[in-house]
Amino acid sequence: MAIKSIVKNLYNVGVDHWDRKIFDNLIPLPDGTSYNAYLVKGSEKVALIDTVDPEKFYELENNLKKLNIDNIDYIIANHAEQDHSGSIPLILNIYPDAKVVTNEKCKGFLMDLLHIKGEDFIVVKDGGIINLGDKTLEFTLTPWVHWPETMVTYLKEDKILFSCDFFGSHLAASNTFVEDEPKTILDAKRYYAEIMMPFRTIVKKNIEKLGKYEINIIAPSHGPIYNKPEVIINAYKEWVSDDVKNDVVIPYISMHGSTKKMVEYLTDALIEKGINVKQYNLANTDIGQIAMSLVDASTVIIGTPTVLGGAHPAAAYAAFLTNALRPKIKYISIIGSYSWGGKMIEQLVATVPNIKAEIIEPVLIKGDPDENAYNALDNMANIIYQKHKDMNLV
Ligand code: FEO
Repeated sequence: MAIKSIVKNLYNVGVDHWDRKIFDNLIPLPDGTSYNAYLVKGSEKVALIDTVDPEKFYELENNLKKLNIDNIDYIIANHAEQDHSGSIPLILNIYPDAKVVTNEKCKGFLMDLLHIKGEDFIVVKDGGIINLGDKTLEFTLTPWVHWPETMVTYLKEDKILFSCDFFGSHLAASNTFVEDEPKTILDAKRYYAEIMMPFRTIVKKNIEKLGKYEINIIAPSHGPIYNKPEVIINAYKEWVSDDVKNDVVIPYISMHGSTKKMVEYLTDALIEKGINVKQYNLANTDIGQIAMSLVDASTVIIGTPTVLGGAHPAAAYAAFLTNALRPKIKYISIIGSYSWGGKMIEQLVATVPNIKAEIIEPVLIKGDPDENAYNALDNMANIIYQKHKDMNLV
């Protein structure tokens, strides 16, 4: 990535990873990603805030060379995950006098994950400060966005918050600051859904904690920089709130079409009642799309046939994922078709112990749907409509 100047003596020296297609071998990256690393040149000391995935270290190294940086005093580690910390040992090789500045928990992780020696660290507490001369960095612990050791760094003089994953988005882009606001917020929502949503309650507390700062710019370590911070802060406040929308998410899979007919019938019945439906065929769906839909949905209906005596593995995966992401949904159920029996319902219900939603009576039918099956789906649509109406959503 080209060096991107943010304000005087502050540069993004990180990297765009345009062609990365998957993160953690789990999360699809339709628009690649970036690892932003920020070089802060104070009048007396120089700090590097976060690094990059080691696969892209050479680009970070080139950027530091282009800026003629012959000394780094501090490497700030906001987060120990390797897409930000993985190049710290390589930076230490070039700048052996640099100290890694982080909190106690992050230090432990960095020693375990990267074998950085204890003497290379300066440990800071919540509210700790590092002085660079005419610039001051203050650290605030923001645990569980999305690991237990995560923290943010605030550049006091310029009122810039370096938030690492917090408020970030997986997006490789040539612009320094957000240009396409709706797209960036959607990307940030996807990112929130994939890694922050399970910790919604503590994320909410961390947003409140950051209220102490006057913030002009939020510089995350993924995606473009926000020069209108209120846009992303307000979006986060909505996502972490207890409010849900008039949305039903239907992840489904079908083998010979019976479950698909049920899904399509239920979808139409719900839409005709004024309810929004987001239907995902698990045979070809990007799981990030499902995660994003779960951020503010009220209801989830999983559609699956019975296969080998239980749920289709794709449906089991969707249920497992929903359980892991802990969305704030209020209602959940299952629809599907079987040929000779099985324990699909019990199996799927046992897969979602973290979900505190009320279970609506499932609709499980034998074979191809008939009039009775469609009546049962009409009944389910009526129940969902009434539930949404009771929440003043429809
Ligand atoms: Fe971008 Fe949790 O690392």
